[in-house]
Amino acid sequence: MSFPNNFLWGGATAANQTEGAYDVNGRGPSNLDYMPYGDLRFQVGTGNLDPKSLPEDTFFPSRVAIDHYHHYKEDIALMAQMGFKVYRLSLSWSRIYPKGNESEPNPLGLDYYLNVFKECRKYNIEPLVTINHFDIPMHLVDEYGGWKNRQTIDFYLKFTETLFNHYKDYVKYWLTFNEINMVLHFPFVATGLTFKPEDNREQITTDVIHHQLVASSKATQLAKKINPDFQIGCMLAAGSYYAQTPHPEDVWKSIQDSRESYMFSDVQVRGSYPNYYLKQIEQQHLTLPIKDGDIEVLRDHTVDFISFSYYSSRVSSAQPDAANQTESNIFASEINPYLETSEWGWQIDPLGFQITINEIYDRYNKPMFVVENGLGAVDNLTEDGEIHDDYRIEYHKEHIKAMSDAITLDGVELIGYTSWACIDSISNGTGEMAKRYGFIYVDRDNSGKGTFRRIPKKSFYWYQEVIKHNGENL
Ligand code: BG6
Repeated sequence: MSFPNNFLWGGATAANQTEGAYDVNGRGPSNLDYMPYGDLRFQVGTGNLDPKSLPEDTFFPSRVAIDHYHHYKEDIALMAQMGFKVYRLSLSWSRIYPKGNESEPNPLGLDYYLNVFKECRKYNIEPLVTINHFDIPMHLVDEYGGWKNRQTIDFYLKFTETLFNHYKDYVKYWLTFNEINMVLHFPFVATGLTFKPEDNREQITTDVIHHQLVASSKATQLAKKINPDFQIGCMLAAGSYYAQTPHPEDVWKSIQDSRESYMFSDVQVRGSYPNYYLKQIEQQHLTLPIKDGDIEVLRDHTVDFISFSYYSSRVSSAQPDAANQTESNIFASEINPYLETSEWGWQIDPLGFQITINEIYDRYNKPMFVVENGLGAVDNLTEDGEIHDDYRIEYHKEHIKAMSDAITLDGVELIGYTSWACIDSISNGTGEMAKRYGFIYVDRDNSGKGTFRRIPKKSFYWYQEVIKHNGENL
Protein backbone atom coordinates (compact mmCIF):
# COMPACT_ATOMS: atom_id res chain seq x y z
CA MET A 1 0.00 0.00 0.00
CA SER A 2 1.63 3.23 -1.02
CA PHE A 3 -1.04 5.90 -1.08
CA PRO A 4 -2.61 6.80 2.25
CA ASN A 5 -6.33 5.94 2.57
CA ASN A 6 -7.28 9.59 2.72
CA PHE A 7 -5.15 10.54 -0.31
CA LEU A 8 -6.92 13.28 -2.24
CA TRP A 9 -7.22 12.22 -5.88
CA GLY A 10 -8.68 14.73 -8.28
CA GLY A 11 -8.10 17.32 -10.94
CA ALA A 12 -7.37 21.00 -11.33
CA THR A 13 -8.60 23.94 -13.37
CA ALA A 14 -8.27 27.72 -13.27
CA ALA A 15 -11.07 30.27 -13.63
CA ASN A 16 -9.46 32.18 -16.49
CA GLN A 17 -8.96 29.03 -18.55
CA THR A 18 -12.38 27.47 -18.02
CA GLU A 19 -15.13 29.78 -16.79
CA GLY A 20 -15.62 32.23 -19.65
CA ALA A 21 -18.72 34.37 -18.89
CA TYR A 22 -16.34 37.29 -18.66
CA ASP A 23 -19.07 39.93 -18.54
CA VAL A 24 -21.87 38.00 -16.87
CA ASN A 25 -23.57 38.92 -13.58
CA GLY A 26 -21.41 41.93 -12.85
CA ARG A 27 -17.98 40.43 -13.45
CA GLY A 28 -15.32 43.02 -14.27
CA PRO A 29 -12.48 42.69 -16.79
CA SER A 30 -9.26 40.98 -15.71
CA ASN A 31 -5.75 41.00 -17.18
CA LEU A 32 -6.31 37.57 -18.73
CA ASP A 33 -9.37 38.73 -20.64
CA TYR A 34 -6.84 40.72 -22.67
CA MET A 35 -4.57 37.82 -23.55
CA PRO A 36 -4.90 37.28 -27.29
CA TYR A 37 -4.69 34.08 -29.24
CA GLY A 38 -1.88 34.07 -31.79
CA ASP A 39 1.55 35.55 -32.36
CA LEU A 40 1.20 38.52 -30.05
CA ARG A 41 0.31 36.40 -27.03
CA PHE A 42 3.88 36.00 -25.89
CA GLN A 43 4.59 39.72 -26.28
CA VAL A 44 1.59 40.61 -24.13
CA GLY A 45 2.29 37.80 -21.67
CA THR A 46 5.83 38.97 -21.04
CA GLY A 47 4.60 42.50 -20.41
CA ASN A 48 6.26 43.93 -23.53
CA LEU A 49 3.10 44.92 -25.38
CA ASP A 50 0.18 46.90 -24.02
CA PRO A 51 -2.82 44.58 -24.42
CA LYS A 52 -5.11 47.57 -24.81
CA SER A 53 -3.31 48.43 -28.05
CA LEU A 54 -4.65 45.31 -29.80
CA PRO A 55 -7.31 45.68 -32.52
CA GLU A 56 -10.99 45.33 -31.60
CA ASP A 57 -11.48 42.13 -33.55
CA THR A 58 -8.71 40.28 -31.68
CA PHE A 59 -9.75 36.85 -30.39
CA PHE A 60 -9.36 36.59 -26.61
CA PRO A 61 -9.97 32.91 -25.80
CA SER A 62 -10.39 33.26 -22.02
CA ARG A 63 -13.48 35.41 -22.38
CA VAL A 64 -15.58 32.40 -23.30
CA ALA A 65 -13.14 29.55 -22.59
CA ILE A 66 -15.11 26.29 -22.10
CA ASP A 67 -18.04 28.08 -20.49
CA HIS A 68 -17.54 26.19 -17.23
CA TYR A 69 -19.51 29.04 -15.65
CA HIS A 70 -22.70 27.67 -17.18
CA HIS A 71 -21.61 24.00 -17.26
CA TYR A 72 -20.21 23.62 -13.75
CA LYS A 73 -22.93 21.19 -12.62
CA GLU A 74 -22.33 18.90 -15.56
CA ASP A 75 -18.56 19.18 -15.14
CA ILE A 76 -18.59 18.44 -11.42
CA ALA A 77 -20.95 15.50 -12.01
CA LEU A 78 -18.37 14.08 -14.44
CA MET A 79 -15.60 14.63 -11.90
CA ALA A 80 -17.73 12.81 -9.34
CA GLN A 81 -18.22 9.98 -11.81
CA MET A 82 -14.44 9.64 -11.97
CA GLY A 83 -14.48 9.37 -8.19
CA PHE A 84 -12.78 12.70 -7.45
CA LYS A 85 -12.03 13.35 -3.81
CA VAL A 86 -10.82 16.87 -4.53
CA TYR A 87 -11.41 19.52 -7.16
CA ARG A 88 -8.85 22.29 -7.42
CA LEU A 89 -10.28 25.47 -8.89
CA SER A 90 -9.47 29.14 -8.75
CA LEU A 91 -11.81 32.04 -8.10
CA SER A 92 -11.97 34.95 -10.50
CA TRP A 93 -11.06 38.03 -8.45
CA SER A 94 -13.02 40.37 -10.75
CA ARG A 95 -16.15 38.23 -10.42
CA ILE A 96 -16.20 39.04 -6.72
CA TYR A 97 -14.63 42.49 -6.77
CA PRO A 98 -15.24 43.63 -10.38
CA LYS A 99 -12.84 46.57 -10.15
CA GLY A 100 -10.86 45.28 -7.20
CA ASN A 101 -11.28 48.37 -5.02
CA GLU A 102 -14.99 48.29 -4.14
CA SER A 103 -16.02 48.38 -0.52
CA GLU A 104 -18.58 45.59 -1.02
CA PRO A 105 -18.28 42.38 -3.02
CA ASN A 106 -20.53 41.48 -5.93
CA PRO A 107 -23.22 39.22 -4.39
CA LEU A 108 -23.82 37.41 -7.68
CA GLY A 109 -20.15 36.49 -7.89
CA LEU A 110 -20.17 35.22 -4.32
CA ASP A 111 -23.31 33.16 -4.95
CA TYR A 112 -21.81 31.57 -8.01
CA TYR A 113 -18.89 30.05 -6.11
CA LEU A 114 -21.11 29.12 -3.18
CA ASN A 115 -23.17 27.06 -5.61
CA VAL A 116 -20.02 25.51 -7.05
CA PHE A 117 -18.86 24.49 -3.57
CA LYS A 118 -22.29 23.12 -2.69
CA GLU A 119 -22.18 21.08 -5.85
CA CYS A 120 -18.77 19.68 -4.86
CA ARG A 121 -19.96 18.85 -1.37
CA LYS A 122 -23.00 17.07 -2.78
CA TYR A 123 -20.54 14.49 -4.13
CA ASN A 124 -18.18 14.64 -1.13
CA ILE A 125 -15.60 16.40 -3.24
CA GLU A 126 -13.24 18.59 -1.23
CA PRO A 127 -12.65 21.93 -2.96
CA LEU A 128 -9.04 23.07 -3.09
CA VAL A 129 -9.14 26.78 -3.83
CA THR A 130 -6.44 28.78 -5.54
CA ILE A 131 -7.26 32.28 -4.38
CA ASN A 132 -5.26 33.85 -7.18
CA HIS A 133 -4.47 31.94 -10.34
CA PHE A 134 -2.76 34.70 -12.32
CA ASP A 135 -5.75 37.03 -12.69
CA ILE A 136 -6.16 40.54 -11.36
CA PRO A 137 -8.98 43.03 -12.00
CA MET A 138 -7.84 45.17 -14.93
CA HIS A 139 -8.98 48.29 -13.09
CA LEU A 140 -6.29 47.68 -10.45
CA VAL A 141 -3.71 47.37 -13.22
CA ASP A 142 -4.88 50.50 -15.03
CA GLU A 143 -5.46 52.74 -12.04
CA TYR A 144 -2.96 51.53 -9.46
CA GLY A 145 -0.27 49.70 -11.44
CA GLY A 146 -1.43 46.39 -9.97
CA TRP A 147 1.15 44.54 -7.88
CA LYS A 148 3.74 47.27 -8.48
CA ASN A 149 1.72 49.22 -5.96
CA ARG A 150 1.76 48.18 -2.30
CA GLN A 151 -1.91 49.11 -2.01
CA THR A 152 -2.76 46.01 -4.01
CA ILE A 153 -1.84 43.96 -0.93
CA ASP A 154 -4.85 45.54 0.82
CA PHE A 155 -7.15 44.90 -2.14
CA TYR A 156 -6.03 41.28 -2.21
CA LEU A 157 -6.54 40.94 1.55
CA LYS A 158 -10.03 42.34 1.29
CA PHE A 159 -10.74 39.75 -1.40
CA THR A 160 -9.28 36.90 0.69
CA GLU A 161 -11.12 38.01 3.83
CA THR A 162 -14.37 37.92 1.88
CA LEU A 163 -13.60 34.42 0.66
CA PHE A 164 -12.52 33.09 4.04
CA ASN A 165 -15.65 34.44 5.77
CA HIS A 166 -18.08 33.51 3.08
CA TYR A 167 -16.85 30.01 2.32
CA LYS A 168 -15.45 28.89 5.65
CA ASP A 169 -17.96 26.07 5.98
CA TYR A 170 -17.20 24.72 2.52
CA VAL A 171 -13.48 25.12 1.93
CA LYS A 172 -10.58 23.95 4.06
CA TYR A 173 -7.59 23.95 1.64
CA TRP A 174 -6.44 27.26 0.14
CA LEU A 175 -3.49 28.27 -2.03
CA THR A 176 -2.58 31.94 -1.84
CA PHE A 177 -1.04 32.32 -5.33
CA ASN A 178 -0.69 29.95 -8.25
CA GLU A 179 2.93 29.42 -9.35
CA ILE A 180 4.16 32.49 -7.51
CA ASN A 181 7.53 32.21 -9.28
CA MET A 182 5.89 32.59 -12.72
CA VAL A 183 6.21 36.37 -12.41
CA LEU A 184 9.83 35.96 -13.50
CA HIS A 185 8.84 34.26 -16.73
CA PHE A 186 5.40 35.50 -17.82
CA PRO A 187 4.86 38.75 -15.89
CA PHE A 188 1.66 40.09 -17.46
CA VAL A 189 -0.03 36.71 -17.31
CA ALA A 190 1.10 35.91 -13.80
CA THR A 191 0.46 39.30 -12.21
CA GLY A 192 -0.84 41.82 -14.77
CA LEU A 193 2.58 43.43 -14.94
CA THR A 194 3.49 45.56 -17.97
CA PHE A 195 6.75 47.38 -18.63
CA LYS A 196 7.70 50.55 -20.41
CA PRO A 197 11.01 50.50 -22.31
CA GLU A 198 12.60 52.89 -19.80
CA ASP A 199 11.52 50.85 -16.76
CA ASN A 200 13.97 49.21 -14.42
CA ARG A 201 12.39 45.80 -14.90
CA GLU A 202 14.44 44.09 -12.21
CA GLN A 203 13.47 46.62 -9.56
CA ILE A 204 9.81 46.53 -10.50
CA THR A 205 9.81 42.74 -10.44
CA THR A 206 11.50 42.78 -7.02
CA ASP A 207 8.74 45.07 -5.74
CA VAL A 208 6.01 42.83 -7.12
CA ILE A 209 7.61 39.73 -5.61
CA HIS A 210 7.84 41.34 -2.19
CA HIS A 211 4.26 42.60 -2.34
CA GLN A 212 2.97 39.17 -3.24
CA LEU A 213 5.01 37.42 -0.57
CA VAL A 214 3.76 39.83 2.09
CA ALA A 215 0.21 39.44 0.76
CA SER A 216 0.56 35.66 0.98
CA SER A 217 1.75 35.77 4.60
CA LYS A 218 -0.92 38.26 5.61
CA ALA A 219 -3.57 36.09 3.97
CA THR A 220 -2.26 33.12 5.95
CA GLN A 221 -2.49 35.15 9.13
CA LEU A 222 -6.05 36.19 8.30
CA ALA A 223 -7.05 32.66 7.41
CA LYS A 224 -5.95 31.26 10.76
CA LYS A 225 -7.79 34.03 12.58
CA ILE A 226 -11.01 33.25 10.76
CA ASN A 227 -10.70 29.48 11.00
CA PRO A 228 -7.68 27.86 12.66
CA ASP A 229 -8.50 24.62 10.81
CA PHE A 230 -7.85 26.15 7.41
CA GLN A 231 -4.85 24.63 5.65
CA ILE A 232 -2.88 27.14 3.64
CA GLY A 233 -0.40 26.25 0.93
CA CYS A 234 2.11 27.98 -1.28
CA MET A 235 2.31 26.96 -4.93
CA LEU A 236 5.43 26.72 -7.03
CA ALA A 237 6.06 25.98 -10.70
CA ALA A 238 8.52 23.21 -9.90
CA GLY A 239 10.81 20.88 -11.83
CA SER A 240 14.36 19.99 -10.83
CA TYR A 241 17.28 21.44 -12.74
CA TYR A 242 19.88 18.97 -13.95
CA ALA A 243 23.35 20.15 -14.84
CA GLN A 244 24.00 19.58 -18.53
CA THR A 245 27.44 18.11 -17.78
CA PRO A 246 29.50 17.41 -14.62
CA HIS A 247 31.44 20.56 -15.38
CA PRO A 248 31.35 22.52 -12.10
CA GLU A 249 30.10 25.59 -13.95
CA ASP A 250 27.09 23.69 -15.24
CA VAL A 251 26.44 22.28 -11.78
CA TRP A 252 26.68 25.73 -10.26
CA LYS A 253 24.28 27.09 -12.90
CA SER A 254 21.76 24.36 -12.05
CA ILE A 255 21.93 25.40 -8.38
CA GLN A 256 21.43 29.04 -9.29
CA ASP A 257 18.47 28.20 -11.53
CA SER A 258 16.89 26.14 -8.75
CA ARG A 259 17.33 28.96 -6.28
CA GLU A 260 15.51 31.32 -8.61
CA SER A 261 12.35 29.29 -7.95
CA TYR A 262 13.02 28.09 -4.42
CA MET A 263 13.55 31.64 -3.22
CA PHE A 264 9.77 32.04 -3.20
CA SER A 265 9.00 28.90 -1.23
CA ASP A 266 12.01 29.53 1.04
CA VAL A 267 10.21 32.69 2.17
CA GLN A 268 6.76 31.13 2.34
CA VAL A 269 7.88 27.99 4.16
CA ARG A 270 10.85 29.16 6.23
CA GLY A 271 9.70 32.70 6.88
CA SER A 272 12.57 34.85 5.63
CA TYR A 273 14.45 35.80 2.52
CA PRO A 274 17.38 33.41 2.02
CA ASN A 275 20.87 34.92 2.19
CA TYR A 276 21.66 34.02 -1.42
CA TYR A 277 18.74 36.19 -2.53
CA LEU A 278 19.65 39.11 -0.29
CA LYS A 279 23.17 39.01 -1.70
CA GLN A 280 21.85 38.84 -5.25
CA ILE A 281 19.66 41.90 -4.67
CA GLU A 282 22.66 43.73 -3.26
CA GLN A 283 24.89 42.80 -6.20
CA GLN A 284 22.25 43.93 -8.68
CA HIS A 285 21.83 47.25 -6.84
CA LEU A 286 18.18 46.53 -6.17
CA THR A 287 16.17 47.22 -3.04
CA LEU A 288 13.56 45.12 -1.33
CA PRO A 289 10.65 47.46 -0.53
CA ILE A 290 10.41 46.26 3.08
CA LYS A 291 8.14 48.28 5.37
CA ASP A 292 7.69 48.14 9.14
CA GLY A 293 6.25 44.83 10.20
CA ASP A 294 6.98 42.94 6.95
CA ILE A 295 9.83 40.87 8.36
CA GLU A 296 7.66 39.76 11.27
CA VAL A 297 4.69 38.96 9.04
CA LEU A 298 6.82 36.80 6.77
CA ARG A 299 8.42 35.10 9.78
CA ASP A 300 5.25 34.43 11.75
CA HIS A 301 2.81 33.30 9.08
CA THR A 302 4.36 30.53 7.05
CA VAL A 303 2.36 27.95 5.10
CA ASP A 304 1.04 24.59 6.29
CA PHE A 305 1.88 22.67 3.14
CA ILE A 306 3.70 23.04 -0.13
CA SER A 307 1.92 22.58 -3.39
CA PHE A 308 3.49 22.61 -6.81
CA SER A 309 3.04 21.92 -10.49
CA TYR A 310 5.32 19.50 -12.25
CA TYR A 311 5.46 19.01 -16.00
CA SER A 312 9.12 18.37 -16.63
CA SER A 313 12.64 18.53 -15.32
CA ARG A 314 14.94 21.19 -16.77
CA VAL A 315 18.59 21.26 -17.87
CA SER A 316 20.99 24.07 -16.98
CA SER A 317 24.11 25.02 -18.82
CA ALA A 318 26.72 27.68 -18.12
CA GLN A 319 26.98 28.07 -21.90
CA PRO A 320 23.35 27.98 -23.04
CA ASP A 321 22.87 27.18 -26.68
CA ALA A 322 19.81 28.85 -28.17
CA ALA A 323 19.70 26.23 -30.91
CA ASN A 324 19.49 23.41 -28.39
CA GLN A 325 16.72 24.68 -26.16
CA THR A 326 13.22 23.66 -25.36
CA GLU A 327 10.71 25.28 -23.13
CA SER A 328 8.70 23.48 -20.53
CA ASN A 329 6.04 25.71 -19.11
CA ILE A 330 7.77 28.94 -20.19
CA PHE A 331 11.02 27.96 -18.42
CA ALA A 332 13.84 27.76 -20.91
CA SER A 333 15.90 24.60 -20.68
CA GLU A 334 18.59 22.89 -22.69
CA ILE A 335 17.22 19.84 -24.49
CA ASN A 336 17.72 16.64 -22.53
CA PRO A 337 18.71 13.97 -25.09
CA TYR A 338 17.58 11.17 -22.79
CA LEU A 339 13.95 12.25 -22.68
CA GLU A 340 11.00 12.12 -25.00
CA THR A 341 9.18 15.28 -25.89
CA SER A 342 5.51 16.20 -26.15
CA GLU A 343 4.01 17.72 -29.28
CA TRP A 344 4.62 21.13 -27.70
CA GLY A 345 8.27 20.44 -26.94
CA TRP A 346 7.81 19.74 -23.23
CA GLN A 347 10.07 16.92 -22.15
CA ILE A 348 8.60 13.94 -20.36
CA ASP A 349 10.43 12.78 -17.25
CA PRO A 350 8.56 10.67 -14.67
CA LEU A 351 11.74 9.95 -12.69
CA GLY A 352 12.28 13.71 -12.68
CA PHE A 353 8.95 13.90 -10.87
CA GLN A 354 10.24 11.62 -8.11
CA ILE A 355 13.45 13.64 -8.03
CA THR A 356 11.52 16.92 -7.74
CA ILE A 357 9.23 15.59 -5.01
CA ASN A 358 12.28 14.46 -3.04
CA GLU A 359 14.17 17.68 -3.61
CA ILE A 360 11.28 19.70 -2.19
CA TYR A 361 10.75 17.34 0.72
CA ASP A 362 14.45 17.27 1.58
CA ARG A 363 14.46 21.05 1.57
CA TYR A 364 11.38 21.67 3.70
CA ASN A 365 10.17 18.46 5.36
CA LYS A 366 6.56 19.52 5.10
CA PRO A 367 3.47 17.85 3.64
CA MET A 368 3.17 18.36 -0.10
CA PHE A 369 0.30 18.49 -2.56
CA VAL A 370 0.87 17.88 -6.27
CA VAL A 371 -1.66 20.27 -7.76
CA GLU A 372 -0.73 20.15 -11.45
CA ASN A 373 0.69 17.42 -13.64
CA GLY A 374 -0.42 16.38 -17.08
CA LEU A 375 0.17 16.10 -20.79
CA GLY A 376 -0.94 18.67 -23.36
CA ALA A 377 -1.68 16.77 -26.57
CA VAL A 378 -3.80 16.81 -29.71
CA ASP A 379 -6.79 14.51 -29.33
CA ASN A 380 -8.71 13.04 -32.22
CA LEU A 381 -12.38 12.36 -32.03
CA THR A 382 -13.20 9.09 -33.82
CA GLU A 383 -16.25 8.72 -36.02
CA ASP A 384 -17.93 6.97 -33.10
CA GLY A 385 -17.32 10.02 -30.96
CA GLU A 386 -14.55 8.50 -28.81
CA ILE A 387 -11.10 9.69 -27.80
CA HIS A 388 -8.43 7.03 -27.44
CA ASP A 389 -5.81 8.99 -25.52
CA ASP A 390 -3.46 6.18 -24.59
CA TYR A 391 -0.52 8.62 -24.60
CA ARG A 392 -2.17 10.57 -21.78
CA ILE A 393 -2.85 7.38 -19.82
CA GLU A 394 0.80 6.43 -20.24
CA TYR A 395 1.97 9.86 -19.04
CA HIS A 396 -0.18 9.79 -15.92
CA LYS A 397 0.55 6.15 -15.20
CA GLU A 398 4.29 6.74 -15.17
CA HIS A 399 3.98 9.91 -13.10
CA ILE A 400 1.65 8.32 -10.57
CA LYS A 401 4.12 5.42 -10.27
CA ALA A 402 6.88 7.95 -9.57
CA MET A 403 4.72 9.51 -6.88
CA SER A 404 4.03 6.10 -5.43
CA ASP A 405 7.79 5.37 -5.30
CA ALA A 406 8.40 8.70 -3.59
CA ILE A 407 5.94 7.67 -0.89
CA THR A 408 6.95 4.04 -0.52
CA LEU A 409 10.68 4.19 -1.12
CA ASP A 410 11.50 7.68 0.07
CA GLY A 411 8.86 8.29 2.72
CA VAL A 412 7.70 11.68 1.52
CA GLU A 413 4.40 13.07 2.80
CA LEU A 414 1.91 13.68 -0.01
CA ILE A 415 -1.62 14.88 0.63
CA GLY A 416 -2.99 14.53 -2.87
CA TYR A 417 -2.71 14.78 -6.62
CA THR A 418 -4.79 16.97 -8.91
CA SER A 419 -4.12 16.37 -12.59
CA TRP A 420 -3.90 19.33 -14.95
CA ALA A 421 -6.37 20.02 -16.35
CA CYS A 422 -9.01 17.43 -15.62
CA ILE A 423 -11.15 18.93 -18.37
CA ASP A 424 -9.90 20.44 -21.66
CA SER A 425 -9.42 24.17 -21.33
CA ILE A 426 -7.56 27.12 -22.81
CA SER A 427 -3.79 26.70 -22.75
CA ASN A 428 -2.19 29.34 -20.59
CA GLY A 429 0.98 29.51 -22.67
CA THR A 430 -0.42 29.43 -26.19
CA GLY A 431 -4.13 30.23 -25.79
CA GLU A 432 -4.96 27.13 -27.82
CA MET A 433 -7.86 24.77 -27.23
CA ALA A 434 -6.04 22.15 -29.28
CA LYS A 435 -3.50 21.66 -26.50
CA ARG A 436 -5.71 19.36 -24.49
CA TYR A 437 -4.95 18.01 -21.03
CA GLY A 438 -8.33 16.74 -19.91
CA PHE A 439 -9.87 13.40 -19.08
CA ILE A 440 -12.99 15.13 -20.39
CA TYR A 441 -13.03 16.37 -23.97
CA VAL A 442 -14.70 19.69 -24.76
CA ASP A 443 -15.97 20.37 -28.26
CA ARG A 444 -14.38 23.73 -28.94
CA ASP A 445 -11.54 24.69 -31.27
CA ASN A 446 -8.75 27.26 -31.45
CA SER A 447 -10.91 29.78 -33.23
CA GLY A 448 -13.70 29.51 -30.68
CA LYS A 449 -16.03 27.25 -32.65
CA GLY A 450 -17.78 24.23 -31.17
CA THR A 451 -20.79 23.06 -29.20
CA PHE A 452 -19.14 22.87 -25.74
CA ARG A 453 -20.25 19.24 -25.63
CA ARG A 454 -18.39 17.23 -22.97
CA ILE A 455 -17.16 13.71 -23.84
CA PRO A 456 -15.31 11.39 -21.43
CA LYS A 457 -12.05 10.18 -22.99
CA LYS A 458 -10.51 6.74 -22.56
CA SER A 459 -8.32 8.28 -19.85
CA PHE A 460 -11.50 9.22 -17.97
CA TYR A 461 -12.31 5.55 -17.35
CA TRP A 462 -8.68 4.74 -16.65
CA TYR A 463 -8.40 7.46 -13.98
CA GLN A 464 -11.70 6.30 -12.50
CA GLU A 465 -10.07 2.90 -11.89
CA VAL A 466 -6.91 4.50 -10.46
CA ILE A 467 -8.99 6.37 -7.91
CA LYS A 468 -11.18 3.38 -7.16
CA HIS A 469 -8.11 1.30 -6.32
CA ASN A 470 -6.30 4.15 -4.58
CA GLY A 471 -3.47 3.99 -7.11
CA GLU A 472 -2.70 0.33 -6.42
CA ASN A 473 -3.57 -1.01 -9.88
CA LEU A 474 -0.97 0.65 -12.06
C1 BG6 B 1 0.79 26.04 -15.31
C2 BG6 B 1 -0.38 26.90 -15.03
O1 BG6 B 1 1.82 26.93 -15.53
O2 BG6 B 1 0.81 25.21 -16.44
C3 BG6 B 1 -1.64 26.53 -15.79
O3 BG6 B 1 -0.64 26.98 -13.67
C4 BG6 B 1 -1.27 26.07 -17.18
O4 BG6 B 1 -2.48 27.65 -15.77
C5 BG6 B 1 -0.40 24.84 -17.08
O5 BG6 B 1 -2.37 25.84 -18.00
C6 BG6 B 1 -0.06 24.20 -18.41
O6 BG6 B 1 0.49 25.14 -19.28
P1 BG6 B 1 -0.08 25.39 -20.74
O7 BG6 B 1 0.68 26.52 -21.27
O8 BG6 B 1 0.13 24.14 -21.50
O9 BG6 B 1 -1.54 25.68 -20.55
